[in-house]
Amino acid sequence: MNRELIKRIVRSGLKSDRPALTVAVKQLASSESKQGHKAFAEDLRAIVQQAPPEGQVQALSSVSVHRSELEKSPTATPPRNRSEAAPLVDVRWSRKSFQDVVLGDRPKKRLCRFLEEYTKQERLAAFGLTPKRKLLFFGPPGNGKTLCAEVIAGELEMPLFYVRFDSLVASYLGETAANLRRVFDFANTNQGVVFFDEFDAIGKTRDARDDVGELKRVVNSFLQLLDSYIGHGPIIAATNYEKLLDHALARRFDDLVHFPAPTEKQMVHYFRVRMKPFRVEGFSAEQAAAWCEGCSFSDADRIFTESLKTIALESSTTLNVGAFREAVDCYRHAGTAYDTQRRESS
Ligand SMILES: Nc1ncnc2c1ncn2[C@@H]1O[C@H](COP(=O)(O)OP(=O)(O)OP(=O)(O)O)[C@@H](O)[C@H]1O
Ligand SMILES: [Mg+2]
Repeated sequence: MNRELIKRIVRSGLKSDRPALTVAVKQLASSESKQGHKAFAEDLRAIVQQAPPEGQVQALSSVSVHRSELEKSPTATPPRNRSEAAPLVDVRWSRKSFQDVVLGDRPKKRLCRFLEEYTKQERLAAFGLTPKRKLLFFGPPGNGKTLCAEVIAGELEMPLFYVRFDSLVASYLGETAANLRRVFDFANTNQGVVFFDEFDAIGKTRDARDDVGELKRVVNSFLQLLDSYIGHGPIIAATNYEKLLDHALARRFDDLVHFPAPTEKQMVHYFRVRMKPFRVEGFSAEQAAAWCEGCSFSDADRIFTESLKTIALESSTTLNVGAFREAVDCYRHAGTAYDTQRRESS
């Protein structure tokens, strides 16, 4: 019997906090079911399902157990891998929101819809429907996949369970699979946004050469665990390895969100926002975007940060065109040097 969950149920009941109570009872049912108490678990689920509707719209923050509440009664200890006893999951709190990200209409719409379904799930339940819970983010590096997982955790006021592939991926596939199971056991019984960043790394063993066949086998066991996931929190997986996006994989997720490279207009918007707090001399957001053509948002972030460091070191308060151009050149040169070195060493 999970004592922490029972305490949460009693607390939520006493506070008449219906959403938190429902979440905790569902989690208790899952936990009991896993311990073999199937009939008891079914009874609990039936009680929740048959309860009369509360008859009011749920505010975003009230559906999830509150940040402050969770911080007071912290989630269970994250699982560890057997060989090195290293944590498999980092529990992080994010305060990021949509204001921190520049997004095209399409991904923004998908993410807003996801949040709406999740936070108004009682409305869906009244029609016998369930919210989307499994998202796949894909697209080239540096355009907001990880950032948006943080935004979703921040918007839902839930912890982000960031899965650590450095401890998860082991030399033996069997061990990687066992680690994956531990992560899902944790996710099934604790409420948070589970994030598998660059999840294709699951299939890359530490010793073996890259082998697409082997990679697919471990990814398949990941997908089976995904199918049997019974936790309450959303699961997000991110990849920039688009070859993996076959039909079988895509249908396991409730929605796919593409994060393409930024358009010029988005880059202008990005620089406008970044430049706003500073006195800027000799260049505009439009020029900055033009000089950064072909860059990802992550590249733009590095260039902008580099130019800020230059003025900070000069004890200047003005972001001048010289410092910015120097940062762009420095970044472009580093990219070329890296490409040349790679060509020479291959
Ligand atoms: N859409 C965006 N809007 C604003 N800033 C962004 C955006 N995308 C990326 N950035 C900036 O770039 C940094 C890195 O982005 P992020 O880690 O989200 O990329 P990613 O898509 O996860 O890349 P990868 O595929 O390499 O994991 C962010 O912390 C942020 O500073
Ligand atoms: Mg990422």
